Amino acid sequence: MEHTFAMIKPDAFENADEICKIIEGADFKIAEKESLTLTPAKAKSFYGEHKDRAFFSGLIEFITSGTIVAMVLEKENAVVDWRSLLGPTNSKQAEEEAPDSIRARYGTDVQKNAAHGSDSPSAAEREIKFFFPEFDLTETHRTSQGEEAKEYLMMTVV
Ligand code: GTP
Ligand code: MG
Repeated sequence: MEHTFAMIKPDAFENADEICKIIEGADFKIAEKESLTLTPAKAKSFYGEHKDRAFFSGLIEFITSGTIVAMVLEKENAVVDWRSLLGPTNSKQAEEEAPDSIRARYGTDVQKNAAHGSDSPSAAEREIKFFFPEFDLTETHRTSQGEEAKEYLMMTVV
C-alpha cells in the first residue's frame, strides 16, 4: 500500500475536520495526524527545494502564520490520487479547472492554497520521515483515526 504526506495549511485549518472527511470519503486512510505550528527554520527546511524562488520568503511567512495539520495518507496510488484530489497549485486555476477539488473549495490563490501533497513517492518518503520519523512505510492497513474512535466506542459498549 502506498503512503503520501499531506498538510492542511494555515488558511484552511478552520476547515480541517471537513477536509479530513473528504479525504476519508475518497478512500484514504489517515494513518497519522498531528496539528502543530512550524518554526521558520523547520518550514525553510521542509520547502528547501524552493529556497531560490521569488515567492520563498512569502511562502515561509504564510506557512508559519498559524496551525497546520500534518498527515500520512494511505491508499493504492496515494501520491497521484492525493495530488488529484488537491487540484492545481493555484486555487484560482483550480476553481476553473477542478471546482470540486480541495484547493478550489478551501484555497484562495497561488500561495494560500489550503493543502500540500508530496509530488512523488520519494518526496513522500522524505516528507513523512520529516514529520513522523518513527513511521513504518512498509506497514499497511492502518486504521483511520475515525475508525479507531469507532472501535474504541464499540469496545466500551460491549
Ligand atoms: P505543495 O503541495 O504545497 O508543494 O504545492 P505544489 O507542489 O502544487 O507547488 P510547488 O511545490 O511548486 O509550490 C509550493 C508552494 O509554494 C505552493 O503550494 C504555494 O503555496 C507556494 N507557491 C508556489 N508557486 C507560487 C507562486 O508563484 N507565488 C506564490 N506567492 N506562492 C507560490
Ligand atoms: Mg510541491
